[in-house]
Amino acid sequence: MLRVVVCVSGGGTNLQAILDAIDAGKVTNAQVVAVISNNPGVKALTRAENHGIPGICISPKDYESRAVYNQALTDIISEQDPDLIVLAGFLVKIPEQMVAKFSNRIVNIHPSLIPAFCGVGYYGLKVHEKVLERGAKITGATVHFVNEGMDEGPIIAQKAVAVEDGDTPEVLQRRVMEQAEWILLPGAIDDIANGRIEVVDNKVRRIK
Ligand code: GRF
Repeated sequence: MLRVVVCVSGGGTNLQAILDAIDAGKVTNAQVVAVISNNPGVKALTRAENHGIPGICISPKDYESRAVYNQALTDIISEQDPDLIVLAGFLVKIPEQMVAKFSNRIVNIHPSLIPAFCGVGYYGLKVHEKVLERGAKITGATVHFVNEGMDEGPIIAQKAVAVEDGDTPEVLQRRVMEQAEWILLPGAIDDIANGRIEVVDNKVRRIK
């Protein structure tokens, strides 16, 4: 059974999609053992609690420096003995020591088709604002492994979503979640939990 730790910062709809998919048997061989948030009082922590899963808040504001916080975050996650760490809307840059310790065992969901609309400054609603500003007709979401770079790790899965006339960033964000994120992230966890993918030469391939 894959021990999964999910890291969140806000609403936690991706966390909910994972929990629902596990309950429905669409994701097998995986259990969420803890939810980690950098923000206190967020809905994602309530979702964890409602599911009987320990929710832990670790905020940078409670630490004297980023270096001390980074080590504390790495330690708290390590204590859960995770096989997989899922960043589901987690707005904290993952510390280098954590990336090194959990190489190819951290996945992130990004709300665009990487390498478009990603990197520094592209998070949350801002991604969708930039897509609309540029007049792109297609966007989507990407699940990828996390490496030292920003949105640069090996891509596990992507799904395209249409941009429609009159979209606001909020409307587009919702469509990307419904049509891509909530499907891709549980799917990637299921693939990892069931040994269907591997990383070769910095690329993900299906094991035959
Ligand atoms: C999602 O759009 C995710 O792709 C982005 O932040 C959002 C988190 O939403 N990184 P939620 O907390 O899962 O509802």
